[in-house]
Amino acid sequence: MKFFIDTANLDQIKEAQALGILDGVTTNPSLMAKEGITGAENIVNHYKAICDVVEGDVSAEVIATDFEGMVREGEALAALNPQIVVKLPMIADGVKACKYFADKGIKTNMTLVFSAGQALLAAKAGATYVSPFIGRLDDVSTDGLGLISEIRLIFDNYGYTTEILAASVRHTMHIIDCAKIGADVMTGPLSAISGLLKHPLTDIGLAKFLADFKKGN
Ligand code: E4P
Repeated sequence: MKFFIDTANLDQIKEAQALGILDGVTTNPSLMAKEGITGAENIVNHYKAICDVVEGDVSAEVIATDFEGMVREGEALAALNPQIVVKLPMIADGVKACKYFADKGIKTNMTLVFSAGQALLAAKAGATYVSPFIGRLDDVSTDGLGLISEIRLIFDNYGYTTEILAASVRHTMHIIDCAKIGADVMTGPLSAISGLLKHPLTDIGLAKFLADFKKGN
């Protein structure tokens, strides 16, 4: 399973990258705003800075909601760096833009996906990634992981190559469950990724090994 970090925070991206397990980054306008990055020029420069830190795919979201605007913005973003994946909202014009970029060989990430039907349309439009938001579904008492399973089944039935990018991951169990179900990618916060490291028996065991080593020296 690929690991993406879901943040625009460069320090956190660097920390995850230093672990050696990072495959990419996803951002969105809210994550950019959270880091105080506003204005088209600053946002573009920030995408370039993220691409300099990581080697994998970096999702950059368009703001336009009409086809022509999405194509204009998406082409400008894709021209920044070959790592850029154009992130498009799951609306009719987003699907049209997805097909347009797929035909041109530009990578896409269909975002704000909350149903199997939306994921099927994204795959048919040739999306590179489809992003079901599992945490936000859980927030409204709907089974986010169940949606990942449904999409897995549908994509496998027809051999769609669109990768299932489990998004809105909130904690370590989301990551583990996504791996069991067969999500191709997960994107989550650094806290969820680092949480996978922790086990009290590891800490106890290591302390004992070090103490026993000292006894013999
Ligand atoms: C996905 O690409 C989104 O950036 C993200 O995962 C949304 O997560 P949230 O529901 O925690 O805001």
